[in-house]
Amino acid sequence: MTYENSGLTLVTDEVSPGAIRWRSPSNIALVKYWGKHGDQLPQNASVSFTLDSAATDTTLHYQARERLGDGIDLTLYFEGEERQDFGARTRTFFQRLLPVYPFLRQLSFRVDTQNSFPHSAGIASSASGMSALALCLVSLEEALFEPLPDREAFLTKASYLARLGSGSASRSVYGSAAVWGKTDACSGSSDEHAVSVADILHPVFQTYHDDILLVSRSEKSVSSRAGHGLMEQNPYAPPRYAQANRRVAEMLGVLKEGDTEKFGQILESEALTLHALMMSSQPYYTLIEPNTLHVIQRLQQYRSETGHPVHFTLDAGPNVHLLYPDSVAEPVKGFIREHLLPYCEDRLYLADRVGKGPQQLEVNTTTLAR
Ligand code: PMV
Repeated sequence: MTYENSGLTLVTDEVSPGAIRWRSPSNIALVKYWGKHGDQLPQNASVSFTLDSAATDTTLHYQARERLGDGIDLTLYFEGEERQDFGARTRTFFQRLLPVYPFLRQLSFRVDTQNSFPHSAGIASSASGMSALALCLVSLEEALFEPLPDREAFLTKASYLARLGSGSASRSVYGSAAVWGKTDACSGSSDEHAVSVADILHPVFQTYHDDILLVSRSEKSVSSRAGHGLMEQNPYAPPRYAQANRRVAEMLGVLKEGDTEKFGQILESEALTLHALMMSSQPYYTLIEPNTLHVIQRLQQYRSETGHPVHFTLDAGPNVHLLYPDSVAEPVKGFIREHLLPYCEDRLYLADRVGKGPQQLEVNTTTLAR
């Protein structure tokens, strides 16, 4: 599949200034993507739940560029402040998209972006941020050229573009649950974009909560980009990729059947496997912290006492995600408040749940005046 299209160029004096705005959520991987090759292609398939409240709200302002240059003309404001670092990252992303969207060189952009979760919460924002931008870009294509044939074509293209910004972002364009990476267990799946698996989800999983316990809000010491790179020399990489592909197939069966126990077993093993891969990389490193393990052990004790189906997962960091169905929300929230918040920085946690996916929003006209 290629979206390269040298025909997508503009007659710039016909372009009126405008803006497009999308809110896109984060997602939590149930079976993890860890290791990539080629042009941001995954070494194994992955499957995730899309979240609801943890999201990025991005407005892409555009106008015809006065003088054509080689690079991308873009400034970025994060929560109202100009950010050179995020701006540079976004220019690199747009540069990478030039074979698909050659018109990106012909416009000047201002990106206004903000997260729904507190900055420095230690929550990865690349999935929500890159998917919000990708959705803005496909809407921009539609505004300047032809509409895409249908919603599926729109979302597939947004997922493809998001993947080039951050692999896991490819999954955020779909509500409920998504698979990224080619697997026989999911028809239509691809390494180049994610696909929705919302339609297979058993009703119990549609009610799932994801409470994110903020064990530490510091920046991680090793970025995901570096972590993926270290997988190339990791001696456990080949069996890991095979295991992940088997687990995606198993997890899809579980999501369909509504088996919350088996769900928890795969989920927790995936979290620990991800961190074991970090510990067995060269150079080796750890991102979990003592309180990460305290939370996990206390949770296991609670589970054996109550039998409630509440299970943990981890992202590439020390924070713990607790996943459970709505039917046990009241006692689980009480348990979190009483027994787990002491392990969280400033006693903070974010209450989230499986969400419906991105939303296009009205442009806020007060920001247009700036
Ligand atoms: O999308 P990246 O490059 O930030 O990698 C994310 C990898 C994990 O979050 C650890 C797992 C996943 O599949 O989301």
